[in-house]
Amino acid sequence: MPLQGLFTPPGDKSISHRLILMSLLAKGEMLVEGLSSGQDVATSLRLFRHLGGKAIDERGGIRLFGLERALNPQKEDLELDCANSGTTMRLLAGILAGTPGTYKLIGDEQLSRRPMERVADPLRQMGAKIATQLGRPPVIITGGNLNPIDYQLKDASAQVKGAILLAGLLANGGPTRVTEIANTRNHTELLINYFGGKVTKEGLTLTVWPEPLTLTENFLTPGDPSSAAFFLTGAALIPGSKVTAKDLLQSPARTGFLRVLHRMGAQVSLTMTSDTPEPMGDVTVAYNGPLTATEIPAEEVPSLIDEIPILAFAATQAQGLTIFRQVDELRIKETDRLMSIRHQLGALGARVKVEGDDLYIEGPTSFMIPKELDSGSDHRLAMTLAIALLAAKAKIPILGEESIGISYPDFKAQLSGLWVD
Ligand code: S3P
Repeated sequence: MPLQGLFTPPGDKSISHRLILMSLLAKGEMLVEGLSSGQDVATSLRLFRHLGGKAIDERGGIRLFGLERALNPQKEDLELDCANSGTTMRLLAGILAGTPGTYKLIGDEQLSRRPMERVADPLRQMGAKIATQLGRPPVIITGGNLNPIDYQLKDASAQVKGAILLAGLLANGGPTRVTEIANTRNHTELLINYFGGKVTKEGLTLTVWPEPLTLTENFLTPGDPSSAAFFLTGAALIPGSKVTAKDLLQSPARTGFLRVLHRMGAQVSLTMTSDTPEPMGDVTVAYNGPLTATEIPAEEVPSLIDEIPILAFAATQAQGLTIFRQVDELRIKETDRLMSIRHQLGALGARVKVEGDDLYIEGPTSFMIPKELDSGSDHRLAMTLAIALLAAKAKIPILGEESIGISYPDFKAQLSGLWVD
């Protein structure tokens, strides 16, 4: 049952969050086309409105009106529910740290287990008062005057980098510096510059100046590679498949999975359709014979961090030993994804081993079909398991699959459109 045809993935989730949250700081207005349709981005939009922002649906997209830092004055503590969205909580923390008032950021059960000191620590150093509950949500922020800092990140996290850069826009009296341990997705810095602010980069060090932002007239959101990865990887491993994703974000910090699929032997081709403010193009992946194993070194991991579950499944179908190096960040995603990959792909018969922070998968696997699979309500696991069952030609329940709506509400409908019986 090959996958064939053309699909338009949802707008990129990381960029969508940033467009909305940066509108809290910017002046002007902007029509955004193709904003992510997932629940996570709906959460950012809800909180944008809650904080006083105006967003209206229009033909062709959603119009965001910049709030110019004039967040609703807080008479009492404000509770902001970030639901399942770690990106909302961490980026918003950067903005609220520089905003007068006291804010309590809460999340759902999964988000309430995720680490927040990584973002609280630098923001405290900038002068905000922040409390976490043993390092986790709720995060209570009393914001106000911020001073610039020079901060060395301890984790490869675009969310933490982004929070510091956004807080740096609000700091008094000079530039803020943040040094990464590895290059991570660069949407915050790119969009700050696109909206008229100033961020420079030298090596792994970014410098942001406290400059005002102005929204542009229109913004076309590129397709989300982290969503498109499921069908494109499915095409790489199911014989007879050929699938094209339209207008897909081509930021090198996000397309590591395409380089890996190519290395594993899939046919990957690209036609660029635009290059500003973010590069995008139509990507076709076609089955090209059985895949072969590969090694993913630590430096490559940030460029495919969210695609590891589906790449791990691809590895179960590839000839040889695939190794993902230093993927400990997977332990603190929506679920402990190292465990979920091991247990759920293991239930399908895959040979998966975790040693230290490395993930080893030996392929090819002939499928075992259990009674059911359990995504643990992790959207990326649920979509990985859906593709796995397609490849295995099996129909069994995936527990917690409604979580797919977090990032990709049209996943099932688009899958039935591509799937040739
Ligand atoms: C994201 C950064 C990554 C990624 C997440 C989205 C972002 O998280 O896994 O899905 O938009 O900045 P970390 O910053 O925790 O690595």
